Amino acid sequence: MHREDFNVLGTGVIYFDNGATTLKPKILAEAISDYYNNYSSNAHRGDYQMSIKASSMYERTRELIRRLLNADKMSEIAFTSGATDSINKIVFGYFRYHLKKGDEVLLTKSEHASTLLPWFELADELGLSIKYIDLDDNHEVTIDNVKRAITSKTRVISIAHVSNVMGDIRPIKEINKIAHEKGILVLVDGAQSVPHMKIDVKDLDIDFLAFSAHKMCGPTGVGVLYGKSELLKELRPIIFGGGMNADFSTDGTRIYKEMPDKLEAGTPNVAGVIGFGYVIEYLMNIGFDKIHEYEKELKKYAVSKLKENPNITIYNENSESAVIAFNYEGIFPQDVAIYLDKYNICIRAGNHCAKILKEEIHKKNTCRASLYFYNTKEEIDKLAEVLANPNIKNEII
Ligand code: ALA
Repeated sequence: MHREDFNVLGTGVIYFDNGATTLKPKILAEAISDYYNNYSSNAHRGDYQMSIKASSMYERTRELIRRLLNADKMSEIAFTSGATDSINKIVFGYFRYHLKKGDEVLLTKSEHASTLLPWFELADELGLSIKYIDLDDNHEVTIDNVKRAITSKTRVISIAHVSNVMGDIRPIKEINKIAHEKGILVLVDGAQSVPHMKIDVKDLDIDFLAFSAHKMCGPTGVGVLYGKSELLKELRPIIFGGGMNADFSTDGTRIYKEMPDKLEAGTPNVAGVIGFGYVIEYLMNIGFDKIHEYEKELKKYAVSKLKENPNITIYNENSESAVIAFNYEGIFPQDVAIYLDKYNICIRAGNHCAKILKEEIHKKNTCRASLYFYNTKEEIDKLAEVLANPNIKNEII
């Protein structure tokens, strides 16, 4: 779908590393170039036409994100530098002030470092107890296991909506329901879900959500922090400076602005945010339901093709999102990636920042092919064909 919108695809490259970052449609560079060439001024800081335009284009993206997520208010959406930044701002700006020694935080062993490390840090600081929700035989999160993991001390569940390695789509709506009945808040890492499926924060009843622009055809260095208004009122900034303060004086008294300004200290990535707006419109026009359905089909197809190869072990064949984690018997994953690169096929190899997943799948490293709407069955055929090369081991040596 829409391959003509991506310059890189015209070069013959087969890009299967969309979990790391996606390709960018031409429209993104055009929008960013338009800003830099024609109205490159700061946002929310100037009273002249160019700055007023930059400000209104910047806010236009916020409104598009509000619509994308079906959030109630634009003030529930702050721009950050990425999902990692958003999660850190939530953990250290909200939970640091709402948790105490002995409180339990539920995570899973398939989480990304961006979720695990902020919580490890806060646990050390406050004396929190980190617990892990058991994964099932497919390494997935089930409602029963979530229920089993919750105790009277559980205060937070912090998990990805979609795991970046296993690709399982977690039942966020049900998790939120169970959590909220017990007064537990849920922090959702949407880095691998928002780009691929329709997310309605009201329908899912999401407390906090974090995601990145660059994993959904947008620029690097832009992320989104969403939170329910009543929670954001109590979220304190952890970065201080211009733009986020209403006033301050010599004696150190200071007044900070309300959402979203209080979380946007310093000159933001104006160009990136404006470009991201164009990309959101682009993706909404394609349709997230269509993207999701197409990717499910691609995933099934990729699994069926790779399973024909007896040397390949797939670790997540049942998960629905278009991520395939696999290994080739007797070949180190990085060597598989380097071999595929010779055929112009890009995948990622390693632990994918999910460094404790190895305790679940008993493999430290895997190859990961992560697909997006512009990938095709023909590209998957090529991947399967190149991996079926009987001389693969010789070519690697
Ligand atoms: N989090 C990104 C990935 O999964 C970088 O590859």
